Amino acid sequence: MAIRVVVHADKQAASVAVAATIRDLIRRRQAEGRTAVLGLATGSTPLPLYAELVRLHRTEGLSFRNVVTFNLDEYEGLTGDRPESYRHFMEEHLFRHLDLRPGSTHVPDGVAADQARACAAYEEAIRAAGGLDLQVLGIGRTGHIGFNEPPSSAASRTRRVHLDDVTRRDNAMFFARAEDVPHGAITMGVGTIMEARQVELLAFGAAKAGIIRRTIGESPHADCPATWLQLHPACTFHLDPAADTQP
Ligand code: GLP
Repeated sequence: MAIRVVVHADKQAASVAVAATIRDLIRRRQAEGRTAVLGLATGSTPLPLYAELVRLHRTEGLSFRNVVTFNLDEYEGLTGDRPESYRHFMEEHLFRHLDLRPGSTHVPDGVAADQARACAAYEEAIRAAGGLDLQVLGIGRTGHIGFNEPPSSAASRTRRVHLDDVTRRDNAMFFARAEDVPHGAITMGVGTIMEARQVELLAFGAAKAGIIRRTIGESPHADCPATWLQLHPACTFHLDPAADTQP
């Protein structure tokens, strides 16, 4: 098992390629009369992917009526109507533009009274939907996937985590003030992500080249959680030339 690395002409080309993979999965499941279960990510990286999925819906008639989605993570303490929440991000950039059935999108609850119970219920909802067919990932400069900050074990499940200061600084642009970035989050675990049948990770720009090099080059270990993806049987990294690690 090894990570397949594809270097695209630019981030638009990478996003179009991953959107085509998702389209084919949705159509295959439609033909089988089944649901397609997508794991989705937030951050600036998947924005062109989501724009392309909206375009496929609008201009190529791609229907999302048979799609169920599970997002990776949510900030702790933010309700879904807050503009900085990942629920709000997904509604704005993807969900409200598609023909998804009501109740078919899932984002961890950042304000659940009993977080342990809510996390277990999230895992159970993924299982009940048939498991993740395809997980979209970005990567943080700490090597996090979702919000699995170092150290995160390969067996970790959906849980509450503490955010690294690097991550809080990187995500401060989405908040009015840097100090408004929450210190905690709810994230699918590495183990949850590893059970997806297929993983498509996107990384663009020179700022990601260092962590991509580590993720591919280092033996899998908890201090760079993305390295666990080396053990996944069907994981592809989609890079633009700037994020590429090749000389
Ligand atoms: C956030 C998200 C991750 C995302 C990462 C990279 O912390 N929780 O899922 O992959 O940031 O963000 P960006 O795509 O903006 O570089």
